[in-house]
Amino acid sequence: MEQLISLCKRRGFIFQGSEIYGGLAGTWDYGPLGSELKRNIQNAWWKMFVTDREDMYGVDAAILMNQNVWKASGHVGGFVDPLVEDLVTKKRYRADHILEQNNINPLGMNLDDMSKAISDNGIKSPDGNVFGEVRTFNMMFHTNVGAIQDETSISYLRPETAQGMFVNFKNVVDSLHPKLPFGLGQIGKAFRNEIAPRDFVFRSREFEQMEIEYFVKEQDWEGRFSDWINSMYEWMDLVGIPRSSVHELEVAKEDLAHYSKRTMDFEFDFPFGRKELYGLAYRTNFDLNNHAEASKVGLYVVDDETSEKVVPHCIEPTFGLDRTILAVLASAYHEEGEGDDKRIVLKLKPSIAPYKVCVSPLLRNKPELMDKARALHSAMKKVFGNVTWDDNGNIGKRYRRQDEIGTPYCIVVDFDTLGENTDLLDTVTVRDRDTGTQERVAISNLEQFLKEKMQ
Ligand code: GAP
Repeated sequence: MEQLISLCKRRGFIFQGSEIYGGLAGTWDYGPLGSELKRNIQNAWWKMFVTDREDMYGVDAAILMNQNVWKASGHVGGFVDPLVEDLVTKKRYRADHILEQNNINPLGMNLDDMSKAISDNGIKSPDGNVFGEVRTFNMMFHTNVGAIQDETSISYLRPETAQGMFVNFKNVVDSLHPKLPFGLGQIGKAFRNEIAPRDFVFRSREFEQMEIEYFVKEQDWEGRFSDWINSMYEWMDLVGIPRSSVHELEVAKEDLAHYSKRTMDFEFDFPFGRKELYGLAYRTNFDLNNHAEASKVGLYVVDDETSEKVVPHCIEPTFGLDRTILAVLASAYHEEGEGDDKRIVLKLKPSIAPYKVCVSPLLRNKPELMDKARALHSAMKKVFGNVTWDDNGNIGKRYRRQDEIGTPYCIVVDFDTLGENTDLLDTVTVRDRDTGTQERVAISNLEQFLKEKMQ
């Protein structure tokens, strides 16, 4: 994990938030390469789950919402984590994490059970002090909208993107008239005032979610739930998260979120242990019913066959974007070779790699090589978008640098390209990141060659 974090900082993937001021706990900034990787993943998700499908519609709802949304959704009353305080230092901890660290499984425990387990087992804080009683802590960040700060102006930074889709259900039904089953998809920021942010971008206070609310007839939910399990695995294949590192966890009834009748977590073998990557929940018609009741606006579709009003049930596949990035990076990270031959290589899928190609002149003090390579760089950029340039140091070092950031192909323009060897005029060397093999390819055939390789 340390090596991965170091690579992320050194090569411009992910930085600590507000770093020059000492940071802000639980926040991370994506640098030039990280934001490219992130955008590629977002675009792949949107394509797979929204634009490639006929039963999906995208939305992009406001982060700030009417406070009644969060009352109806149950978040004001119930979006809490168990908190325990060191009675001397006043530092606060997640009670379930403290229990886990002491080899006690907190699953299914209520607040009293946790307090009792802490005191019966004589568990002390990391500073060696006694803990107080375990209590709840609401994780929503709140703010006031407008100049007046009173109860009526309270709003929250959304803790999940899901509610933005439920409250737009009627707008989408009225404007596009979708038939069941259909879904809404959204990508966006979510905020949680985590008691203990940790493990790099795994648990932060500001993060991004890619969520789907898929509406079905009640009797169809089990079949659709299974379909979504398969689709979620297909997504992991697409971005390079190996199925062998993913484990299904059926969440026990007593541990289900307040809205769920069945939840399956997809856990991933992160470098710090097996932890939740994604979730798939059957939310019943809990959200639509609650919002309809609280807003007094009917949230239903009219059944074509029976003309009855139906409140659909909802299956929710949810994907943390930052956890996806971490799982993708951890899966792609390889160290190979020994001594001087040692290299770090990010074996990213070409479709999500920050740079698709790197173009280099063999030497930078030869204007003819530079001109030819520059022209090729511009041409490649037009085709592949994010193509980088490197003319620094020897070719071996350039390859190492590109390996470390996951660039799948390096193109070198040399004297043969210029016709020193007439048979090789207008050809270049293409080097493959994963195998290290080099091929001579005609510039006229380069686009086709690389496109086939990247499939
Ligand atoms: N709408 C359902 C929902 O929000 P969740 O399990 O609380 O369910 C969904 O969150 C996903 O969001 C998680 O599976 C995880 O990938 C991501 N996630 C949750 N909390 C996070 C945090 N503090 N930092 C980074 N990602 C987080």
